[in-house]
Amino acid sequence: MAPVHERARRVGDLPTPALVVDRKALAHNLAVMAEALPGARLRPHVKAHKCTALAREQAALGHRAFTGATPRELLGLAVAGLGDDLLLANETVDAHRLRTLADCGARVTVAVDSVETVDAAADNGIEEVLVDVNVGMPRCGCRPDDAGRVADDARARGLAVRGVMGYEGHAVGIVERERRAAAVEQAMAELRRAHDLVGGDVVSAGGTGTYDLNTTATEIQAGSYPLMDGLYAELDLPFRRALSIVATVISVADAHAVADCGLKALAMDHGNPGIHGADVWFCSDEHVTFAPTTRPVVGDRVVVWPRHVDPTVALHEVIHVADGPGLDAAVVDTWAVDLRGW
Ligand SMILES: Cc1ncc(COP(=O)(O)O)c(C=O)c1O
Repeated sequence: MAPVHERARRVGDLPTPALVVDRKALAHNLAVMAEALPGARLRPHVKAHKCTALAREQAALGHRAFTGATPRELLGLAVAGLGDDLLLANETVDAHRLRTLADCGARVTVAVDSVETVDAAADNGIEEVLVDVNVGMPRCGCRPDDAGRVADDARARGLAVRGVMGYEGHAVGIVERERRAAAVEQAMAELRRAHDLVGGDVVSAGGTGTYDLNTTATEIQAGSYPLMDGLYAELDLPFRRALSIVATVISVADAHAVADCGLKALAMDHGNPGIHGADVWFCSDEHVTFAPTTRPVVGDRVVVWPRHVDPTVALHEVIHVADGPGLDAAVVDTWAVDLRGW
């Protein structure tokens, strides 16, 4: 028997909670970005959608080089025939996974920021690296002053150093555009300094919030723009919110209602999701509790808007593709979230 979702004709008939992408909003977002950053100017980050079907849409628009955060994402792209130029924009010392990447048939470049990550790459057959530089967000990346030494270590091990990367994650979400631009410039001054020490053709950086502000990077690693989320929607970006979760109202009380979309269907690290015309109180494992302006009845469907797309998508096995917004839109396709895992 076909899974229930395959029999649903409209979004409001899907078994819930169901992750839904509005394909018109998605097409708008993809087209706007492809015009702003054509071809190799954009190296889409697939961690946001973890979906080869969506990566194919990006490739069809001319973006054939991809960024990933996990070896699994890169491997999935390679198997799907999207392995022209894959960047693991993240550190790993996992010998088995590095070896699998080295043998996957795709062009693979990995980020390194220490002698340990250089050695792991070289020991396991990786041929190309980027030196990852900390440009202000305390996560991975060496100090700009150390980038030349990391590059020397890599070259001494026979690795080709393609250049540098430095993600300005502390700047991408700053609401006021001028302050965001200033933070990007400060971060990119650090990356340029590192690049002078490293050499190479590639300066990889940027995200959805800085895609048009970062003029230093040779390629922008934006990932959220196709689907968008609540945090980014507060910025002055030309992208539309395309990803929502459809939920069913399962209980109604005097002042509140409850729908079946909780922490196990929704990432909460950026705060509560939104429900149009309602005040969301809190989420628990399988519940979102909200105060509606119009009292619903049990069985009604509601559309829940996640505040952070990337970790929300990773909680779902499929994305249902809808022919537009709202509960009456037709379900026209179902895409596997097939790049999950590590
Ligand atoms: C290394 C790296 N590059 C780029 C991005 C850009 O992603 P987004 O488009 O969501 O800003 C991220 C997101 O966290 C990232 O970790």
